[in-house]
Amino acid sequence: MSLWGGRFTGEIDQFFAAYNASFRFDRRLIFADLKACAVQARALGRAGVLNESEVEAIVTGLAKITTLAGEPGYLDRPEFAATEDVHSFIEGRLVELIGPAGYKLHTGRSRNDQVAVATRLYLREEIDQLLVRLRETRQALIDLADRYRNAPIPGYTHLQKAQPVLFAHYLLAYFQMLSRDAARFAEIRHRVNTLPLGSGALAGTNFPVDRQWMAEQLGFEAVTRNSLDAVSDRDYLIEFTGAASLTMMHLSRLAEDFIIYATQEFGLLKLGDRISTGSSLMPQKKNPDSLELIRGKAARVFGHHSALLTLAKGLPLAYNKDFQEDKEALFDTLDTLNSSLIVTTTVLGNVELDAPRAAAAAIRDYTNATDLADYLVRRGLEFRKAHEIVGRIVVHAIGRGVELAQLTIDELREFSTLIEDDLFKAISLEQSLAGKAMVGGTSPVQVDAELERARDSLIDQ
Ligand code: ARG
Repeated sequence: MSLWGGRFTGEIDQFFAAYNASFRFDRRLIFADLKACAVQARALGRAGVLNESEVEAIVTGLAKITTLAGEPGYLDRPEFAATEDVHSFIEGRLVELIGPAGYKLHTGRSRNDQVAVATRLYLREEIDQLLVRLRETRQALIDLADRYRNAPIPGYTHLQKAQPVLFAHYLLAYFQMLSRDAARFAEIRHRVNTLPLGSGALAGTNFPVDRQWMAEQLGFEAVTRNSLDAVSDRDYLIEFTGAASLTMMHLSRLAEDFIIYATQEFGLLKLGDRISTGSSLMPQKKNPDSLELIRGKAARVFGHHSALLTLAKGLPLAYNKDFQEDKEALFDTLDTLNSSLIVTTTVLGNVELDAPRAAAAAIRDYTNATDLADYLVRRGLEFRKAHEIVGRIVVHAIGRGVELAQLTIDELREFSTLIEDDLFKAISLEQSLAGKAMVGGTSPVQVDAELERARDSLIDQ
């Protein structure tokens, strides 16, 4: 039975009924919806709208539905296939279980505030799960950094060799990004965690339900302050998919780095068999499909974010059925983000650094040229002049096909008499790293300290 038959004399078109129905996807909200329904029943009891036995019958019926909905296959039963949405599903089952008293549950409520409260409850729990996953990924970054504590790799700008950095320093960059992501989700959780129930269809309700009490029962931090806004606010979904987009963007960048570093040309990383796939044609191939999919799936999350913005932009206050389209965007964002975090964590546990090759690459190709310029600056030369001189030294070294450290002291002094024997230590790989000793720099001492901080930050949460 539909929730709105009285006004109608004709039958709904069957194709349109299926088009209109959302049960096949909004059934994911069922446990959140059932929780809010029980609190709604009790609030109606406290308001004197339902008597005690009605409240108990409803709450018992809802508990029974909760049990049934948890049974495998129950929601898939063919007799439920034509259900309009999760809200009519619950009312239908409730009336089957407890009789007409079940129809009283919807007193003073609309599906508009019902769907809003269910979505918020659902998302709140999902954010908590997501924060756990983000921690696991950050832990995997720390574990990998720990394994290669003092291993240098080449750092790049413009994907051209720039300066040596520690692999741990590189990994901790992603730790920082994912920590900001976690902070963003935690912040969004506060705005998600507001009770819209009691707003009715748009104007509020004639029954004196205690919204503050309902909020406390459901663990909400606040109640919404405007009924029109409460039933038509989807900001929290838009900012959630926005934050999800940022996380996917971070995972995608990491994926892109690893794909590049694992090429034969770079040869810095080796991807384990557990996260690679082969080619159906070329027997020698080992492809980084895990990483490519993470990178690819970022696109669909960006799409959902964009879809929700577009969905909301032209809608007149208050509720419009367009909002039903928010669910699949939200659910797919959650599924994509969760699975991408899990795969990223697995990748981080199944990747190896070719440490000797990375260390050799880190100091090759004049990555210590800046250290040579800084050496001249410490001897009193203006940086711009030092830059110019080292540029010429690099051209000379390229001409001879050698590295800076392979030039003789006499050769070097042709360019500047400020250069002395201690230059060679100053431009060594060890010193290049150790020299970056400011907070946030790549010196082993700093990186150790940041690794410790990162570890502590996961314990605090
Ligand atoms: N299924 C709808 C949604 O997801 C909720 C029902 C509100 N429908 C309505 N006609 N007022 O937004």
